[in-house]
Amino acid sequence: MIRPVRPKDFHELLQIEAQAFPKSQYDREELWLLSLQYPHTFLVTVSNHIDGYIVFRVDGHIISMAVRPQKRREGIGTRLIQKVIGHCSGKSLRLEVRVSNVGAQRFYLNLDFRIKARIDGYYQDGEDAFLMERPADNTEDTD
Ligand SMILES: CC(C)(COP(=O)(O)OP(=O)(O)OC[C@H]1O[C@@H](n2cnc3c(N)ncnc32)[C@H](O)[C@@H]1OP(=O)(O)O)[C@@H](O)C(=O)NCCC(=O)NCCS
Repeated sequence: MIRPVRPKDFHELLQIEAQAFPKSQYDREELWLLSLQYPHTFLVTVSNHIDGYIVFRVDGHIISMAVRPQKRREGIGTRLIQKVIGHCSGKSLRLEVRVSNVGAQRFYLNLDFRIKARIDGYYQDGEDAFLMERPADNTEDTD
């Protein structure tokens, strides 16, 4: 099930963050602020546990996403991106990803994102980012 985040999810989200982003994980206060700022577009995938999350803006900017390591390569990330595509229909999607994060880049390329630019020193530790963008689906032309 995919649903909006609740405060009781933060404990498990902090575990996912620590495993996914050892260099720049969100802390509890940042998760709380994101949940206040994006109450409808901070989504979690739930089975017995929280298996993954995505936070995005309605303009199509994906702020962050991660899947629990034990649950990767099961299609959870793809389903979360499909939610964003549904929510932001008619809009292009974009995000920043570390240049060293080749696995995530492959994941996004597989979902029709393309690298648009390199942003020098985007991350606090000085690493560059790739800006990746996915063009808007144009379903009107395909009936
Ligand atoms: C990136 C991430 C969210 C992908 O989630 P996921 O649930 O594993 O993705 P999916 O199972 O939907 O993957 C779909 C396809 O994407 C590609 N893919 C996904 N992860 C990949 C990887 N590490 N390397 C190469 N290709 C990958 C594959 O083609 C995969 O299909 P397959 O498993 O049939 O080969 C997850 O690896 C993750 O949480 N990484 C750490 C956090 C992170 O980097 N977040 C993004 C920051 S911008």
